[in-house]
Amino acid sequence: MPRLHITGGQRLAGTVKISGAKNSAVAVIPAALLTAAPVRIENLPDIHDIRVLVDILHFLGVKAVWENATTLLIDASTVAKTQAPYELVKKLRASYYFMGALLGRLGCADVPVPGGCDLGPRPIDQHIKGLVSLGAKVEVEHGLIGVRAKKLIGARIYLDVVSVGATINIMLAAVRAEGRTVIENAAKEPEIVDVANFLNAMGAKIRGAGTDVIRITGVKELGPANHCVIPDRIEAGTYMIAAAATGGDVTLLDVIPKHLDPIIAKLREMGIAVEVGDDKLRVIGNTTPLAVDIKTFPYPGFPTDMQSLAMVLLTQAQGSSVITENVFEGRFKHVDELKRMGARIKVEGRTAIVDGRTQLSGAPVKATDLRAGAAFIIAGLIAEGETVISEIYHIYRGYEHICEKLTALGAKIKEIP
Ligand code: EPZ
Repeated sequence: MPRLHITGGQRLAGTVKISGAKNSAVAVIPAALLTAAPVRIENLPDIHDIRVLVDILHFLGVKAVWENATTLLIDASTVAKTQAPYELVKKLRASYYFMGALLGRLGCADVPVPGGCDLGPRPIDQHIKGLVSLGAKVEVEHGLIGVRAKKLIGARIYLDVVSVGATINIMLAAVRAEGRTVIENAAKEPEIVDVANFLNAMGAKIRGAGTDVIRITGVKELGPANHCVIPDRIEAGTYMIAAAATGGDVTLLDVIPKHLDPIIAKLREMGIAVEVGDDKLRVIGNTTPLAVDIKTFPYPGFPTDMQSLAMVLLTQAQGSSVITENVFEGRFKHVDELKRMGARIKVEGRTAIVDGRTQLSGAPVKATDLRAGAAFIIAGLIAEGETVISEIYHIYRGYEHICEKLTALGAKIKEIP
């Protein structure tokens, strides 16, 4: 199994181009099944999750052809199957979007119970609640979730938990349901707005995406569309933290600064200089960061996906910091590995107390999820000595060409067998 080898002590400097958002792309691609007309999706990131999704489309009998490295042409007029294959689906949690998409298009779907990262329990009860409200019958047997609906009827759905996945999945099933659907207590992430914009470009009638009340008027058919995926705010946040942690000077290109507000605000609170342009921003990490407290919350709160990355930066701060993880149970699996690199962190339930002024030292560590893997890369960049990260397939699921991008910024990182 390949591993990543990092030599610490390099200061990052230069520019990096941010790719399309994974958490938008993994919903936009299944959403293309809702129309029999051709769609064109640009700015897709070259990451493993996207390649798996395209394989699933092919398995379902859908034509999907790459026009270039980041543009995919999809023609779902020939979708023949309604069961996504276990071998492919188990590789990514976001395959649950095929439930909403196939239900919306063909009135039925069989999707294996989703796999995905190891972030503690990740139920999909709110997805099921929404699809049942729209008139679907749901059976879970032999590890398959079967959803069937002769006809989907619009409904008012109140989410018990603010859930990105449930909000999007319900939207996918509702755009062709008969009548009006209202999703209350909806998630407000930019990726939800991006999926809604794509669906509206196909002729859907969605209003309020990005707020906690989304109103959908069902339409009979959807047509063709062109869509450009928004930039990945978590990839951007990763390079911002890497610049700050290495005392570097990095300019990020092709970002939407508004989506980065919680990260920009927190870095500025730590005394890090952040210069913001229209579609780019610059992070200058020339000071030791101030210790700050961080609480993760659904957007526009501080992203849970940035929690492990911020934790690495806070090991360098001028004092102790408190991180509270309010979104996922058990999203502190990276702490033990960071402690093996010399970090001094105390976890109590949903809270981690991070001591500052810590000289990290390189060590062999294992990536437990996508963002923890990225956090270990940043820890390796600032640690004294060599760090070797295993299970790096987690990282390649969501970070496009991360070794090349970091090497271009001056990092000493390479893949080893
Ligand atoms: C999405 O996961 C992202 N994944 C995650 O990013 C991200 O961490 C998360 O949203 C929160 O922002 C994709 O978009 C593919 P949720 P999702 O439903 O939709 C609970 C990454 O690194 N919940 O918003 O699965 C759930 O357990 C990944 O890119 C229910 O209880 O997250 C969690 O505690 C990791 N019942 C909370 O809600 C449900 O039916 C938020 O989960 C659904 C969720």
